[in-house]
Amino acid sequence: MLRIDVITIFPGLLEPFASESIMGIAQERGKVQIRAHNLRDWTTDKHNTVDAIPYGGGAGMLMKPEPLVAAIEEIAGPKGPQREGKVILLSPQGRRFDQGMAEELARESALTLVCGRYEGIDQRAIDVAVDCEVSIGDYVLCGGEVPAMAMIEAITRLLPGVLGNAESLDTESFQGSVLEGPQYTRPAVFRDLEVPAVLRSGNHAAVASWRKERALERTKQRRPDLLDEEKTNQPPARSEEPDGSDGKN
Ligand code: ADE
Repeated sequence: MLRIDVITIFPGLLEPFASESIMGIAQERGKVQIRAHNLRDWTTDKHNTVDAIPYGGGAGMLMKPEPLVAAIEEIAGPKGPQREGKVILLSPQGRRFDQGMAEELARESALTLVCGRYEGIDQRAIDVAVDCEVSIGDYVLCGGEVPAMAMIEAITRLLPGVLGNAESLDTESFQGSVLEGPQYTRPAVFRDLEVPAVLRSGNHAAVASWRKERALERTKQRRPDLLDEEKTNQPPARSEEPDGSDGKN
């Protein structure tokens, strides 16, 4: 069972996401436990303050270190070798999330995802309590909640017993560094467009080689960088630790 704790000032954003569809099924099957915690529960003043103005001036507010560190330490334990799993801060400054990182994180027993808001977070909270920073792409969102949901979904669907058809994991885009080719379902003819004959031939070997060719063709056209990555990385970059270390300690 993978335990995922999310620290946020908007737990209401996470709750419906965690209980519907595949995430809901994964929780019912005991494969994952997703809990959203309200950061304000760790504040000590009567206004439940989680933010303050930045030292040195500048626009906007920053998240204060005390409630964040208190929440992280209560949920995940103090930073250090005894801590179970990883504490990840979602931030545009983090290492880019990809399928390889999802595979690695799916092997952890506990993840604590910290959602930033406002203009950022006091650096001391990151230094004292966070193991690594992760970004879901080169664009800036209003907070870490949507990135946390994207990560949770990418990780949870990889857990054994979550998806009905394990084979679908092997053939899909990125798992083997190529995109999926075109796919077709019924009807055989739609608006004069026919499903390629090979897919209706019943010849499994021919279908498999057609799919492989189309997948490669599409990858060459749309994402040639994925093919370069496959050639240059021995072993692939996907085996790196999310924190950028070599994973040896
Ligand atoms: N918070 C704001 N933008 C983000 C991004 N791109 N990835 C992760 N966390 C974020």
